[in-house]
Amino acid sequence: MFDQIAPRYDLLNHVLSMNVDRLWWRRTARIFARILSRNDARVLDLCAGTGDMSVALQAVAAKKKSNAAILALDFSRPMLQHGLTKYRARKIQPLEADALQLPLADNTVDLVVSAFGFRNLANYDAGLYEIFRVLKPGGEAGILDFSEPGGFMGKFYGFYFRRVLPRIGAVISGVRSAYEYLPASVQKFPAPQEMLDRMAAAGFTEGNWLPYTFGIAGLYRAKKP
Ligand SMILES: C[S@@+](CC[C@H](N)C(=O)[O-])C[C@H]1O[C@@H](n2cnc3c(N)ncnc32)[C@H](O)[C@@H]1O
Repeated sequence: MFDQIAPRYDLLNHVLSMNVDRLWWRRTARIFARILSRNDARVLDLCAGTGDMSVALQAVAAKKKSNAAILALDFSRPMLQHGLTKYRARKIQPLEADALQLPLADNTVDLVVSAFGFRNLANYDAGLYEIFRVLKPGGEAGILDFSEPGGFMGKFYGFYFRRVLPRIGAVISGVRSAYEYLPASVQKFPAPQEMLDRMAAAGFTEGNWLPYTFGIAGLYRAKKP
């Protein structure tokens, strides 16, 4: 599915989110500024796609004059290929691999961030286990993804997400199923407390969820003890 939508992915992201996506990536990267400012930091952008999360992480590292190494991992070659210009310009290393079988040794990464990718994994617990395995003790994880807000905002958002967004997505990408899949995958994704419980069960500590933009999206943070 991601191979099919890759050519229009960036455009669609910006149109469908009305550019709020940029704020979410930047805010997430800033939260991890302490790690990114370290010259020896190894950072993994999991499910990196066309690379906008990696770019935001690299911008924070550059601002801190750090040479933190950023690895952009995705299993869709077309998604990585459409991000190549961004990756090359910033010395970000793209890597074609499956998030459920990371080709990385245990305890070797300081920070794993995943933006709008984790929700797509076929097995969330296996994904958490892999993140935990590759993190160094003291390393941190950040999972940014959509959420379903309650109240009035939830109703408005539900209408936009289920009725409007799939139509615009289908017209621009030419792939109807992809943008029907998006609201369905968000509905299937665990609510914040369940996700935090799963993170704790995988071994993470200090888990918390930070809502973004009325809870339309949010960042899960946790540490490997
Ligand atoms: C919605 S895109 C997000 C891309 C990017 N992180 C962003 O914020 O724009 C989800 C990405 O997850 C990737 N993905 C889904 N399952 C994966 C897996 N098991 N291993 C690696 N990548 C995966 C897809 O190929 C796709 O590029």
